[in-house]
Amino acid sequence: MRGDIPSWQVCRYNPIDMPRKSRDRYVQKTIAGRFHIKRPLANGGMSRVYVARDNTTDSRVAIKLLPPRPDGGNLIERMEREAEALARMDHPNIVKPIANGTMEDGGYYIAMELIDGPKLTDFIRDNQTDPEESIQLLLQICSALRHTHRKGVVHRDLKSSNILVAREGRKKVRVKLIDFGVVKFTDETTLSGGHQILGSVHTISPEQVRGEEVDHRADIYSLGVLAYRMMAGKYPYHSRVTAQVLSMHVQAEIPLLDDPMLPTGMSELVARCMAKDPSDRFDDIQQLMDGLSQILEVPTAAFTKPFKTSESLPPTALMLEGERRAGRIAMAAGAILLAATALFWILT
Ligand SMILES: Nc1ncnc2c1ncn2[C@@H]1O[C@H](COP(=O)(O)OP(=O)(O)O)[C@@H](O)[C@H]1O
Ligand SMILES: [Mg+2]
Repeated sequence: MRGDIPSWQVCRYNPIDMPRKSRDRYVQKTIAGRFHIKRPLANGGMSRVYVARDNTTDSRVAIKLLPPRPDGGNLIERMEREAEALARMDHPNIVKPIANGTMEDGGYYIAMELIDGPKLTDFIRDNQTDPEESIQLLLQICSALRHTHRKGVVHRDLKSSNILVAREGRKKVRVKLIDFGVVKFTDETTLSGGHQILGSVHTISPEQVRGEEVDHRADIYSLGVLAYRMMAGKYPYHSRVTAQVLSMHVQAEIPLLDDPMLPTGMSELVARCMAKDPSDRFDDIQQLMDGLSQILEVPTAAFTKPFKTSESLPPTALMLEGERRAGRIAMAAGAILLAATALFWILT
């Protein structure tokens, strides 16, 4: 599909899962005298991610490797920027970096916390996440992004494969934001990437498509697209031709979520995130989080169980518990139980 875009290049694609056994020159090698590479985990756009053992701590880690390439200067610079951005982060919903540097063969590595969990959309599909749980997940992503923006970084590539959902024990899940490979530092004025479009086709903001200077509101747009995807089960803009999807981000009418089962205000909130003009979106992530929290406070048919408010449930950890199954059984049991639940909401 790259050929569909005449003058720009969309340079990021969803990675594919790697087979456990694969011939690979780094497997069973030790990087930087410390990280013993065990097996490939996933392919990124230009890099490959491996599971490795950190010999200094005897723990499993993830290593993102960029092999040496004759034309690799620009890519190494990008990896260095990723490492620099990660070094600024310190947040439970953002992957923790461990070490980075140039390898003996001239390639580049970033070692980081290994996250054991699926990408966001797979998690939602496999767990049949309901709107309330989706909003709790969104709040965790927002929390990670708020930190990112406060540290002077725009992520610019928010998409499902860059958001992993890790289980913590049996009852909690924690979102982890990864892949700071195309970040923009807010204190720099030049665009990295020249005439390339940096971003991913389904979630890229209109201003990124136009190749304009972007700020944190580009991430708010992408988050809106992800929220739409989480609620509707599909992306807002569809075409088999990549250039058409890009053009829809710029000029198509914003589709509204029209599912009556969705909580009141959700459709408007998502549409506001997806506004074409950044000044029509939320000003910052905090405003968006306030909007999401307000939606959680108003009971609607979308919430099948008494929910935890943001006070009782920190946005960094989502509870998945027996209540959830009970909620579904309550739905199946019919109107009486729902009415009782509604009464509970009114009384509390
Ligand atoms: N720390 C990590 N723990 C577990 N899996 C990871 C980790 N980092 C990356 N991955 C996996 O590798 C894929 C590619 O990594 P990513 O950083 O997104 O590379 P790229 O910049 O090339 O897209 C991710 O989508 C994810 O599946
Ligand atoms: Mg990625």
